[in-house]
Amino acid sequence: MSGRDFLAMEDWSPEAVDALLRLALEVKAGKVRGGLERKVLAMMFLDPSLRTRTSFETAMFLHGGHAVVLEPGKGSWAIETELGVVMDGTGVEHIIEAARVLGRYADALAVRAFPKGNDWEQERADPIIHNFARYCEKPVINLESVRRHPCQGLADAMTLSEKFGGDTHGKKFVLQWAWHPKPLPTAVPASAAIAAAHLGMDIVVARPPGYDLDPEDHLAIRSLAEARGGSLTSSDDCEAAVNGADAVYVKSWGSLDHFGRPDQERALRDQHREWRMTEDLATATRDGRGIVMHCLPVRRNVEIDDAVLDGPNSVVIDQAENRLHAQRALLLELIGS
Ligand code: CP
Repeated sequence: MSGRDFLAMEDWSPEAVDALLRLALEVKAGKVRGGLERKVLAMMFLDPSLRTRTSFETAMFLHGGHAVVLEPGKGSWAIETELGVVMDGTGVEHIIEAARVLGRYADALAVRAFPKGNDWEQERADPIIHNFARYCEKPVINLESVRRHPCQGLADAMTLSEKFGGDTHGKKFVLQWAWHPKPLPTAVPASAAIAAAHLGMDIVVARPPGYDLDPEDHLAIRSLAEARGGSLTSSDDCEAAVNGADAVYVKSWGSLDHFGRPDQERALRDQHREWRMTEDLATATRDGRGIVMHCLPVRRNVEIDDAVLDGPNSVVIDQAENRLHAQRALLLELIGS
């Protein structure tokens, strides 16, 4: 362990997160040059990415460093992530050696690992990212694990702060569940709500019955929101929740009550096909000008209608751009000279 990982935004003190967000704005304004010369970031993608991979590689290049990207099973050895197993299956390299070796080559290790199993009680401990952090002697950055996507959360906090001129306290932030053909992980919605909580916003989680976030996430969001002067409530009425919202974060996620049983979950989810961001819903936000957010990739006309994504409420491309600046700040803070 390095003692300085970035696995969840709330692992860092609010003051440290505020400092990161300030640095991200300075970086975006072009006030910071270099700082990562001769530094190496090793990135391990156990799952695909467009934004995360590209923005981290670009961040390292822009500040004079280098990024090595590994996709286990595609050009590097397939990784066995379970501890204490007899490795007579498909995994060739164990997570313990992979973490230790990459820690000798690189200044930081960044890992993406989505849920793999079908038992939420096991998955919710987020074992893969925590074991990389346990066995790597350099800082580990979470590129989206089972429970958190803190780099997305950092960019989302930056975007919210920018769009409201730094005045986010008491603004209404709605995390709006959306229908999707597959049950998706809860890392992004939990991290988006943590970001809004950090900013002291009044958060409403709008979701159909059966789609609550993990109780531990709910508690983490509530505790942080209240400590920062905000609040957390839930609603199963999408239109009422979005009415008057300053920001609506649209995201789909699967029912944790049916985790690992997609056929069972589908019967529940398909009752809520109408949950999506439409032009009428966007018009119902505060003065019709509430911002509409999504981490991307987004399924057009399934999660968010074309008219909204291509209209004035959408800030999804700004969010994606801010991934780059927020991560430049994170890398400078973690391994910068
Ligand atoms: N939002 C996000 O993490 O995008 P990618 O999955 O493309 O990296």
